[in-house]
Amino acid sequence: MVELSLREGLMSKGRDAFIAQLHEEAPLFRDPDGFWVASRFEDVRMILLDHKRFSSSAMGNVSSATLQSSGRAFAFPLLTDDPPRHSVLRALLAKAFTPAAMEAMQPYVEELARDLTAAIPRGKEIDVVAAITSPLPVAVIARMMGVPGEHAAEFRRWSNAVADIQSGPIAPERIKAVMELRGYFARVSAERRASPGDDLISAMTRVRETSEALSDDQIVAFCILLMVAGNETTTNLLGNLLNRLARAPEGWAALKGDPGLIEAAIEESLRVDSPAQNVIRRATEDVEIAGTRIAAGELVIIYLASANRDPAKWDDPAHFELKRIRERHVAFGHGVHTCIGAPLARLEAKAAMTALVGRFAELRRGAERGQRLGGGLLYGFRSLPLVFA
Ligand code: HEM
Repeated sequence: MVELSLREGLMSKGRDAFIAQLHEEAPLFRDPDGFWVASRFEDVRMILLDHKRFSSSAMGNVSSATLQSSGRAFAFPLLTDDPPRHSVLRALLAKAFTPAAMEAMQPYVEELARDLTAAIPRGKEIDVVAAITSPLPVAVIARMMGVPGEHAAEFRRWSNAVADIQSGPIAPERIKAVMELRGYFARVSAERRASPGDDLISAMTRVRETSEALSDDQIVAFCILLMVAGNETTTNLLGNLLNRLARAPEGWAALKGDPGLIEAAIEESLRVDSPAQNVIRRATEDVEIAGTRIAAGELVIIYLASANRDPAKWDDPAHFELKRIRERHVAFGHGVHTCIGAPLARLEAKAAMTALVGRFAELRRGAERGQRLGGGLLYGFRSLPLVFA
């Protein structure tokens, strides 16, 4: 019997062991903190497809204890909207993520990845988070939002502060950084309203003229959403993958021998070390799942990381296996809220891995293990010392 809460279980048993125990003993788990945890792949998929009976809107006003249990500090627009409003906001953003838009970004992303890789010293221990996994996505999202180059350093500092708040204690200097960030985006959106460009923030100010208008506060929250969703998850994907490869050097050699395996490595990393561990929904009516009744109004934490390790779907699910037959995972979610930035994340990860594998023959662990992020939502590294040679 699982007797601990999700938070206690993860802390005391460790993630791998607690996920395995959930699958074995309580795939639909009633957390003593007052919510459900769904961990089976098929249940997760079913809930995420059923946005009528499992609403995202309640994420906006869940209790702070539940926000903390799931690792959240903010409630964002779009993520916390249901159709039809969700559809309108999503359509607005979708224009920035079309295949044509991704193709247009590709040369910039690849050049950036090559430049960051060229600056990595051979044979010397470096923190890969500072050297490549964080600067790459931050620069890319800054460009998409039309943040000018001279603000890039501040943008990175703010972005890190927002991520820290999501995944660690809320310290005064982090709050200050978030206030600065809010002020910055409020100024930028006022400027873009006066003289619009073809960037995302200008596009958001244009919605103000329609019936689904976004308030100033919502535009700022939207900008912060893109920063968090766009940066930290991709940073974590790359860090988790490099960590796995450094701990099993035959993986690096395999990628070197056949760079065509890079995409498989990225998907396997997303599956086994899902960067966004969970999403939340609230039941809008009584629902029965596998014989268990979830009452209207109750919250469900959809445990993506656990669904991606369902033993009914993958053999030896906690094992990172480069040549595993690829099955669809839910690291980017499922249904109407499926990650809109997934093609961009994949593009960035592939560009970084192609540049690194092309330049370096070997990847080794550093002397230290590195520092994992805290909190239950984001899974990745705050710092990760590795050696490229
Ligand atoms: C490895 C990288 C990434 C992972 C693992 C990831 C994961 C996710 C997940 C699980 C969701 C679904 C949320 C839900 O169902 O409630 C989501 C939604 C979203 N993601 Fe990502 N994401 C990544 C990268 C990105 C990037 C690069 C961007 C943008 C630049 C982005 C922007 C968004 C947005 C705006 C949503 C909300 C979509 C909606 O509600 O319709 N993500 N992401």
